[in-house]
Amino acid sequence: MDRHDSRAASEPRPSPPSPARILIVDDEPGIREVLSALLRRDGYDTRSAESGEQGLSAFAEFKPDLVLTDLQMPGIDGLDLLGRVKAAAAREQRTVAVIVITAHGTVDTAVRAMREGAFDYVTKPFLNDELRAKIGRALEVAKLSADNVRLRSALGERYQLDRFVGQSSRMQEVYQLIRQIRGTRINCLICGESGTGKELVAQAIHYGSDRKGGPLISVNCGAIPESLFESELFGYKKGAFTGAQRDKVGLFEAASGGTLFLDEVGELPLSAQVKVLRALAERRVTPVGASAELAIDVRIVAATNRNLNDEVKAGRFREDLYYRLNVVQIDLPPLRDRREDIPDLVRHFIGRFAAEFRKPVSGLTPEGLSILSRWRWPGNVRELQNVMERAVALADGPLITPAALPGRIQEEDLAPSAEEKDASDLEMKAGIDLEARLMETERRYLRAALKITAGNRTHAAKQLGITFRSLRYRLIKLGMASEEDLGRE
Ligand SMILES: Nc1ncnc2c1ncn2[C@@H]1O[C@H](COP(=O)(O)OP(=O)(O)OP(=O)(O)O)[C@@H](O)[C@H]1O
Ligand SMILES: [Mg+2]
Repeated sequence: MDRHDSRAASEPRPSPPSPARILIVDDEPGIREVLSALLRRDGYDTRSAESGEQGLSAFAEFKPDLVLTDLQMPGIDGLDLLGRVKAAAAREQRTVAVIVITAHGTVDTAVRAMREGAFDYVTKPFLNDELRAKIGRALEVAKLSADNVRLRSALGERYQLDRFVGQSSRMQEVYQLIRQIRGTRINCLICGESGTGKELVAQAIHYGSDRKGGPLISVNCGAIPESLFESELFGYKKGAFTGAQRDKVGLFEAASGGTLFLDEVGELPLSAQVKVLRALAERRVTPVGASAELAIDVRIVAATNRNLNDEVKAGRFREDLYYRLNVVQIDLPPLRDRREDIPDLVRHFIGRFAAEFRKPVSGLTPEGLSILSRWRWPGNVRELQNVMERAVALADGPLITPAALPGRIQEEDLAPSAEEKDASDLEMKAGIDLEARLMETERRYLRAALKITAGNRTHAAKQLGITFRSLRYRLIKLGMASEEDLGRE
């Protein structure tokens, strides 16, 4: 070998920035070819894999900056691959962006993929420019995200009440109560429908107390089989029963010095209620098979979405335990009873998911907000959070439109909103334009009927109990359709 050459090779050269590496995973050879040709032309270094399995080994060896994967593949599918790639990257402390390719009409899977950490998705058939733009942005963000992770952990535990959004008077009362009791070790019972923020309250109490250095142990009382309660809550000694091969620390002991959060406490079977009551009263527990009691120092916060008072009356919940848990009761109002909090919550969730999905979504249209303000929110804040997550994922502009909101919540259009229900005295004094009001109402019903019949005017007319001719006449009068639009029918 020529000496001169070998020296030249070992000389440090100004290295051009190395091209970003992209791994393409798709079971269709045609798509793989098109994509790698396109991306190579753009100067990327690419590798292709024809299955999730191959994709995983290529990921380990090729160390791509970005993975572009089809969602539907036999064997390890795109969602699986996404999870595994993300986990592997986390283990190796490197970042990888994943963009998923979905077939048309499977947007919900795409949303799920984004929830599980995909950066973005493209729908087949895709436009090259759209794909290029998404890849460019993903790579840029991946570069920044390493810094981001560091920053987030540096911020540490935030002041817990800061995590609540909503300034309604009902919530102000809740915050006030939390402030009053968090410094004490008073037991408290948090009541509220599903998704109203009970767990958030439990955390605010624990982290706002001087027990915050101790553990916060959550136990879902509805999830423990009746036969296991005692050993789960109080622990056991080695040899206490067959299978007890070593000592097990119970949850009461594990929470010592901190807070034990008994979630869904209404689900505790009666047999377990007796034992919990004794533990609370005596501040001691006896692990199964132990000869001595253990002193425990825990604060109990319990939560329920049932009405425990009714449970007591029905004989399903012990009254003495109820009073012991319920020294202070915090009632979380359902979201429909504090609709004034909806705009703040919406803004909060848009900000959060826009950042999480790195999408430039900044708000929603007035029509969108009005739909959200009317819905009855049976799943409360959690439901709103899910709706906003989906909406941000689906938004294709800076403002979320009704199209990105689930159909079920739009049907509420038919019900008059709270404001409309009471045409208040005040309003009457100011004088109203009845004709305009009636037209507005008419328009709302026509729109709703057309929506639920997917725009079929014959069906919509039937739905409204009017003739097709009458519907035609009204649509034109209200400016919702023109003669030409309708002429064709
Ligand atoms: N006031 C609020 N501000 C911001 N986020 C909230 C608020 N209330 C609830 N959330 C969020 O809504 C979700 C549901 O809240 P949480 O889990 O505390 O409800 P929960 O009452 O315990 O529900 P479940 O009865 O279903 O267990 C969580 O993600 C929580 O962070
Ligand atoms: Mg909960």
